Parts: sequence; structure tokens; C-alpha cells
Amino acid sequence: MFNTDIISKFKNIPTPFYYYDVEVLKQTLDLIKKESDKYGYIVHYATKANANNKILDSIRSYGLGADCVSGNEIKKAIECNFDPKHIVFAGVGKSDAEINIALDHSIFCFNCESLQEMEVINELALAKNKTANIALRINPNVNANTHKYITTGLEENKFGINLWELESVIESLKELKNLKLIGLHFHIGSQITDMSSFKSLCMRVNEIQSWFVSRKIIIENINVGGGWGVDYHEPDKNRFVDFAAYFKLYNDFLELRPGQKVHFELGRAVVAQCGALISKVLYIKKGVCTNFAILDAGMTELMRPALYQAYHKIENLKQYQNTRIKYQDVKYDVVGPICESSDCFGKAVNLPETSRGDFIAIRTAGAYGEVMSSSYNLRDRVKSIYSDDLK
Ligand code: LLP
Repeated sequence: MFNTDIISKFKNIPTPFYYYDVEVLKQTLDLIKKESDKYGYIVHYATKANANNKILDSIRSYGLGADCVSGNEIKKAIECNFDPKHIVFAGVGKSDAEINIALDHSIFCFNCESLQEMEVINELALAKNKTANIALRINPNVNANTHKYITTGLEENKFGINLWELESVIESLKELKNLKLIGLHFHIGSQITDMSSFKSLCMRVNEIQSWFVSRKIIIENINVGGGWGVDYHEPDKNRFVDFAAYFKLYNDFLELRPGQKVHFELGRAVVAQCGALISKVLYIKKGVCTNFAILDAGMTELMRPALYQAYHKIENLKQYQNTRIKYQDVKYDVVGPICESSDCFGKAVNLPETSRGDFIAIRTAGAYGEVMSSSYNLRDRVKSIYSDDLK
């Protein structure tokens, strides 16, 4: 991802900024295409992970659809030329205005999370004399074994329709004439690295499908969501997740009825490794027993460490420079400039002896980095630079 040449070009760019390696993104998309095509799977990119135009353009050019969670994400996807027929719309709290945007564009499918939401979509579709395709987002009660803030498939979570509600939902659907049930949707959480969670999901989907079949309801589309996690510790060694194993698992365990299509909604696994937050060291401060490296980037640019105590690998980019100087490793608490103690990217991080002006990269930040940035403390919004702009 980094070499002397690229780093020398960083010298002219004001920090902090997100750096995206376009080649890494393309290689990831090549793999996704190759491995999902083996089974005829349909992959939608979860726009929420990174909604930069250039990233979206690249993803669309590989034929992926878009998984959106707001009216603005739908508009953005369409602006980036995603075909509305490849757009799905999820979220527990779709507003009337957002539903109308989706209806106006005749998107592929609304992933519905409650009966009340279906009633509203039906009413708004009726007013436009349209029929909305819907999938029921079912809460499968499967443990994703991930951080509690990004677990979504347990009964205690706010997401989806619970299994015990299905009977009455199906009954009520008969009256909602402007809705067409075309799918079942599941999503159990994010940054899942334990494959057995996906296997459990498949088993549960099989049970639920049998329930529908026993009621003579055949569903065309099964959407198993996203959630495949990436390696935050070894971003170079494991630059690409094992898409072959991931898609194969679904092929091995998901029981399909003739003609059924399987959909995925991957976000993090598509874009995480192509992005890094680049920052400069402002000050080195010696505490009683800690050295602080104070960066010009903070939780405003990358919120994940503060919000989820998430680990991101931190590197001093001088380690990539061809120099004979041998730096000694020193431990630093790497922190940002924001007036909050949670504004910390890593504690006791081993870095080559670091000085004011050194470039620091915070790796694996392509997903849920820039999109979650803010202007808290009235900071400037973070900019992005792409590897092909540096050529
Ligand atoms: N589908 C649905 C319905 C989702 O809610 C999500 C993510 C995805 C797909 C994509 O999941 P992925 O493949 O990216 O794991 N801000 C958090 C992650 C929140 C994920 C929310 N939903 C983070 O920084 O870790």
C-alpha cells in the first residue's frame, strides 16, 4: 500500500486525509466477482461503509448492486449510476419522505423491519398507484459473536421481525395489496470473523424457509446480509478476506428451492483495507509513565476506536522509507487533538522513535471511517486522496 514514492507525494498534501489505494479496491472487487459468480450470487455493496463517489463508481463498474439505509444513500447510488433495479433499502426507521424517494425510483426491494412499516409503505405506494417489492427482514436470533454495538440478529436487538410475529405478519400482508412479497432478508451483525455464525444463519434460514414452504409460500429471493469481518491486525498479510470460503459456505449449507436467488450485502469486506487515515504528528509529550504522540487527526476523522474501542494498526510511515537510519522502537499513546480522553487511537503502541512532522497511517480505515467522521469542535471535514490522483 505504501512505498517511498507515494510517501514523498504525501508531503505536498495538507493532513489529515483519507488515502485510498484504488488498486487494492479493484483487486478486492475482482475476487468478489470471481467467487460470487461461481454460484450465481448477487452482491449488493452496503453503501453505508463508504459512500465516496469514486469508490461507488468503481464498485458499480463491477456490477454490484447497492444496499442503502437512507433516502440520501438511494439518491447517491443513483447519482453514481447504480440501476434502481439493483438497489435494496433497509433500516428500522424509514421516514415517509425516504420511502417516497425509493418508490419514485422503483427500487428493487424494501427490506421491511415491522408490520407498521409495511402498512406505511403500502399506503404511500397506493397513493402513487405503485406496487412495492418487499422482503421481510427476519430477526433470526443467531449470535454473531462480535462487538455488542454491531450485533443485530438477536431477539434483544431492535432489528427485524421476530420469529413469533411471522404468522400474524403473513396474515396481515394479504390485506396490503400494494406490496409484493419477493424476499426474506437477514443480517446478523458486522465484523464477524467466526464462520460458524454464518453456518448457524444458514441453518436458521433453512428452518424458516421450511416454515414458509409448509404454508405454500415460495419466496424468490433470500438475502443473507453482510457482516464478513476483516483483519485489522495484519492489513498487509491478509489484505483480502477469504471470499472463496465465505461464498462456498453458503453454497454448502443454504438449502435453496428451484429458481431462488441469493443476495449478499457486503460493506466492510469490500472497502476496509483500501483506505488509511493519514495524519501528521503535531507534538510529542512526555507524561509520567507514558509518551504521547499527538496527531492532527482525531476521533472526528476516525471514530471507531473511541466508539467501539476498535483496534486499528498504527504505523509511522518512515518505516517504509529507504534510509539507513535505524530507529529505536518507543511506546506511545497515540492520541488526537479533541478535548475528550476517549480521543485515543491506541495505547502503548510500538513505533520507531517519532517526532513532530512524521506521517502516521491508521490502517484498515476504508470502511466506516470517512462516512462516520464529523465536524465536532468545528473541525474541517476530512478530505480524501486516491492513489491514481498521485500518479
Ligand atoms: N446489511 C445491513 C442490513 C447492515 O445493517 C449492514 C451494516 C450491512 C449490510 C453491512 O455490513 P458489513 O458487511 O459492512 O459488516 N459502524 C460499525 C459498523 C456498523 C454496521 C452496520 N450495518 C463499525 O464501524 O464497525
